[in-house]
Amino acid sequence: MEMRTKVKLNNSNQMPILALGVWQSGKQTKQAVLSALKAGYRHIDTAAAYGNEEAVGEAIKESGIAREELFITTKLWNDDVRLGKTREALMTSLNKLGLDYVDLYLIHWPVNGYVDAYLEMENLMKEGYIRNIGVSNFKKHHLEDLLSQVHIIPAVDQMEFNPQMQDQELYQFCKENRIILEAWSPLGSGACLQIPAIQIIAERYQKTPAQIILRWLLQKGIVILPKSVHEERIIENANLFDFQLQDEDICLMDALNQNLRTGPDPDHFDF
Ligand code: A2P
Repeated sequence: MEMRTKVKLNNSNQMPILALGVWQSGKQTKQAVLSALKAGYRHIDTAAAYGNEEAVGEAIKESGIAREELFITTKLWNDDVRLGKTREALMTSLNKLGLDYVDLYLIHWPVNGYVDAYLEMENLMKEGYIRNIGVSNFKKHHLEDLLSQVHIIPAVDQMEFNPQMQDQELYQFCKENRIILEAWSPLGSGACLQIPAIQIIAERYQKTPAQIILRWLLQKGIVILPKSVHEERIIENANLFDFQLQDEDICLMDALNQNLRTGPDPDHFDF
């Protein structure tokens, strides 16, 4: 199935380009993950801070899908970075997920201590607990700082990226350094679905605004993590492989940037 299409990371490992995001999925997490796995998703993106790693683990187990077919991402929380508890935090996450390795482990935010945390993640990767390592919410200057002090180039950087929030500097830097950009809140937490220009494009292609936005990101080489707890939307968000946006529509979408975040700015946050 095409929705299992994968991208090759800078270490030659493969990663599915579509994931289910589960931030704020709450009590519906297990059901959402089960719906996604049924619909063909094989990549799930969670985090210790989301408080739902157990639910993700239960769904994985109940699905009966072979471990090697799945790609599971979780993230190291800020307090554990600050306290130097990377190893303990990963073991806790693995325990909650019911897994003996994660496919991708990310530093959730660029807080003090991220270089040491990353170096410990390099060790944990060599020990087999992590298949790929990366970061989240790192701007270009954070990545430059990190790259000058570590041995392994991050496989991915996960950042808010949607039509209204396009960090072009980061996009270019990731391209040049073979770091895959993953878009969190690809739909701008739903807000981008209301943009008139996108609704007009959607009508022309006979697709939904969500599908237009997600397809635009895929064509830019960005990995997508749309969140939904509704089965019909989970299915809709994966039906992206029977059409292609023309270059002029990609340009129209690129021009919608307003540097408008729905989430915190990685240079100014207080958690
Ligand atoms: P819900 O989970 O109730 O379906 P993002 O991934 O950008 O953060 O956006 C997630 C938000 O967009 C959630 O509120 C989700 O609601 C909603 N959403 C996800 N997919 C769709 C879709 N295909 N159509 C409309 N709303 C959607």
